[in-house]
Amino acid sequence: MQISKTYLKKLISAEEISSRVQYLGKIISKSYDMKNPIFIGILNGSFMFMSDLLKSISTPCEVDFIKVNSYVGKKSTGSIKLLKNNSIDIKNRNIIIVEDIIDTGRSIKYLMNLLSNSDPKSVAIATLLLKSGITGLNFNIDYIGFEITKEFVVGYGLDYNQKFRNLDSIYLLKDKSTN
Ligand code: IMP
Ligand code: MG
Repeated sequence: MQISKTYLKKLISAEEISSRVQYLGKIISKSYDMKNPIFIGILNGSFMFMSDLLKSISTPCEVDFIKVNSYVGKKSTGSIKLLKNNSIDIKNRNIIIVEDIIDTGRSIKYLMNLLSNSDPKSVAIATLLLKSGITGLNFNIDYIGFEITKEFVVGYGLDYNQKFRNLDSIYLLKDKSTN
């Protein structure tokens, strides 16, 4: 009988994440100086990135959250459920969506569509991770922490069946097959 076990392999250290997130905070602060942006974090995965990024923002801003759900285990279910909408009125406001990771792009397309319907002045995207090989987006991903391969990752907010979100670094979740 083949039993599949998993193990974690460090991909991006806490120190690397910290310096990159601070850098993103600096350039976003410059671009949005006195534009009073609203940062909209996508729950649950973005909570750590959101928190660290916001500590590096040096211009007045507001914070809100949207909660969506599409993943079970390592697979996208294909259908995206909106579990909590934004609370602040975004009409005529500058929005920055804060995501943990963009893989197929399905979620971010859904979110762009959802937010655009409320007539914001602008919508930008900040994602900590971007999985390589994405095609077919008709908008830019403005701020990217790290580009990674298609493998499944956990830690720093990202989960596998709700676990590993608490880790301060990002890890590959590997399968180890034993007989
Ligand atoms: P997409 O819709 O395929 O772009 O996937 C986006 C969402 O799926 C992210 O916001 C994550 O919540 C989740 N996701 C995608 N890839 C991973 C991964 O490698 N680890 C953990 N969550 C992931
Ligand atoms: Mg997510």
